[in-house]
Amino acid sequence: MEKLKEEFEKRFGEQPQQVFFCPGRVNLIGEHIDYNGGRVLPCAISKGTWLAVSKNRDKIFRFQSLNFSDAVELHLQQSYSKTGKAWYKYPLGIINELLQKEFSLSGLHLLFYGNLPVGAGLSSSASIEIVTAFALNELFGLKLNKLDIVLLSKKTENEFIGVNCGIMDQFAVAFAEKNKAILLNCDTLEYEQIHFGLDDYELVIINTNKPRTLADSKYNERFTECGRALKALKKELTVNNLCEIQIETFQQKKHLIGDEILAKRALHVIAENFRVEEAVKHLQNRDLKKFGELMFSSHDSLRYLYEVSGAELDTIVEFSKNFDGCIGARMTGAGFGGCAIALVKKERVDEFRRALSSFYQKKIGYLPEIFSSTAENGVGEVS
Ligand code: GLA
Repeated sequence: MEKLKEEFEKRFGEQPQQVFFCPGRVNLIGEHIDYNGGRVLPCAISKGTWLAVSKNRDKIFRFQSLNFSDAVELHLQQSYSKTGKAWYKYPLGIINELLQKEFSLSGLHLLFYGNLPVGAGLSSSASIEIVTAFALNELFGLKLNKLDIVLLSKKTENEFIGVNCGIMDQFAVAFAEKNKAILLNCDTLEYEQIHFGLDDYELVIINTNKPRTLADSKYNERFTECGRALKALKKELTVNNLCEIQIETFQQKKHLIGDEILAKRALHVIAENFRVEEAVKHLQNRDLKKFGELMFSSHDSLRYLYEVSGAELDTIVEFSKNFDGCIGARMTGAGFGGCAIALVKKERVDEFRRALSSFYQKKIGYLPEIFSSTAENGVGEVS
């Protein structure tokens, strides 16, 4: 934070007006459910994105980051289009969205710093989008509420960035509360904060460090597959999304789909949505072990039915299953690499890290990155 302010002053010749922080997230259970209208259970983590910002009078947006060397200057205009793979496409997309809503903005000095591994499935993109939208809302007094900020960030991701993501990530990093997980109904957007008591356990996050080159296209492929399965089931069922269907009804009607792969995708979605309900009950009963068992089942379903895991994530989860002191583990987020999470007895965490690192390196050829996190608050101003 001090370093960020110092750098801001060095680069822009003034103190930032305000500094904001938005965390990343992990999803505890309920994967590939948000765009199918079901329930998810994410929580925010301790890593995220900081933004130091001030208005300027020269009608120029100056984007800089402590993580990337390219400094970008863009004149204030009516709209922008996506700028390839550059990191600043996220804040630019948010600015573009605000301009489309006819908010009047001035030029800005923006300096970002993030400690989330980029593209590792911890929502670094939602984190930078939400921190930007939240900051601009405060700075220009736009009077948007948190849900407006979430919806405009999701729209940016869908339309400006071009990823068909659901609402989970943006919602989680905006609404999260310390020591809570958010039970979010992605259809109605009703939500409840569920106490996430870890007792003697730690939430361990394991980054596979696998380059996720195919992640976006594969993600969009799953999105389309679910749409096709739903369309087929709608021939006889009156539903708006897959998560409205009970498992028994699905078993009776799955022949309508007529394609084995699409039927597997739908089965994952319907069963996973049900697992979330069960998982919440276990959390409420303080039965972390049963919660952990559901994490393992969720992973299997993502591995065999939804097919979004991979050798790296499976290696981590297989290791975790056999590790004395680990009661649950699964991939988290979109998959195809990215991160896994595990619940590990506190006194065994060091051993878990050491043994997993060496097991993983032998099998995969390079090291994972492992850290622990508590469940943290969502976006806010940093004093
Ligand atoms: C990504 C997307 C989310 C969600 C998860 C899978 O993180 O951004 O909207 O679909 O994948 O659960």
